Amino acid sequence: MEYDVCLLEDLEVATAKRFDIEGLRLAVVRLQDDQVHIVDDRCSHADYSLSEGELDTKELTLECWKHGSAFSLLTGEPQCFPATKAVKTYETKVQDGVVKVFVDE
Ligand code: FES
Repeated sequence: MEYDVCLLEDLEVATAKRFDIEGLRLAVVRLQDDQVHIVDDRCSHADYSLSEGELDTKELTLECWKHGSAFSLLTGEPQCFPATKAVKTYETKVQDGVVKVFVDE
C-alpha cells in the first residue's frame, strides 16, 4: 500500500522527523532536494526514537541518541553495537511535492 506521509516542504534539508502513519512509526529523512529516506523510527535495541538522533549525511546513517548505534538509511543495518538487528527500511518517493511511503501488507 502507498500512503502520503507529508509535504516535502514540511521537511528541512539534512534533518529527520518522526511521522506516525497507519500504525507505523517512521523516521523520515530529507538529505537534499527531494532525496528522502524512510526507516522505522523505533531503535532495534530499545524503544528510543531514531528521528531524535544525529543524521550523518555523508555516511547516510541515523544514530540512536541513547546508546549510539548508527543505522544505515539504505539497508537499516546497525553499523555498530549495541544494536544488532536492522530496522526496517521503506520504499519512498516524492510526487507532486508529497512524500509517499510504500508499506508491505
Ligand atoms: S536504544 Fe538505540 S542503541 Fe540502545
